[in-house]
Amino acid sequence: MLSFGQNGRWRKAMVDAVVGISPSRVLDVATGPAGVALQLAARTGAQVTGIDVTPQMLKAAQANLARSPAGEHVTLVLGRAEDLPFADATFDALSFTYLLRYVADPAATLAELVRVVKPGGVIASLEFHPPRGVPWHPLWFLYTRFVLPAAGWALGGREWLDVGRFLGPSISGHYRRYPVTWLIGAWHDAGVDAISTRLMSLGGGLVMWGRKSVSHSSAGLESQVAHEPALPGTDRA
Ligand SMILES: C[S@@+](CC[C@H](N)C(=O)[O-])C[C@H]1O[C@@H](n2cnc3c(N)ncnc32)[C@H](O)[C@@H]1O
Repeated sequence: MLSFGQNGRWRKAMVDAVVGISPSRVLDVATGPAGVALQLAARTGAQVTGIDVTPQMLKAAQANLARSPAGEHVTLVLGRAEDLPFADATFDALSFTYLLRYVADPAATLAELVRVVKPGGVIASLEFHPPRGVPWHPLWFLYTRFVLPAAGWALGGREWLDVGRFLGPSISGHYRRYPVTWLIGAWHDAGVDAISTRLMSLGGGLVMWGRKSVSHSSAGLESQVAHEPALPGTDRA
């Protein structure tokens, strides 16, 4: 509901960035019900690993794999993005969707994601983004603060009311602390080159992708030091 039905388009744009390199092994982080992992497997023919921290999500993912012809190319792993159970340079490509708002230290998490990608491999992501300017930002604000919680309550009761209330402030707060300019710098410091960003659907979604640098050797500490988060109220996104 928050993407106004645009999530499929955004997801396809992110997967397009991975398809181009014809990868053999892909990691999808925060895979949730495995929608991205299945699309990656179907469109690349790669062996895809989907990792997520929530067992219930992986249960839903398992059911979705069983229903899809591409499911046999996807393996599911329980684990945290901040501490991936894979050796350095294991994957040709890596995707992550709606992840960074949930981690305590996005720069350190980015460094960990980049660690498991081979030099020259693709890293691609998708996240919500607050539309800019008038009238889209005020409309988005009203929608996320009032319509979305009400719709959540009407459709799913108390639990979905809480989800509807959470999303808008979570997205606004994330970009106040980590504007797009900060994200680009953090990707770069984590060892990613040729970074591209694409705001989609009036700015409601942000797709980012880039290539792991062939020369980068020590992602991690450097990125945490060089990119302190912006202070609240200084959103440049
Ligand atoms: C909004 S869902 C998105 C799921 C999927 N990427 C999609 O687009 O359908 C966010 C997912 O991130 C997972 N997640 C949150 N924090 C995580 C972490 N630190 N490591 C791995 N997964 C995480 C949650 O369990 C949830 O499945």
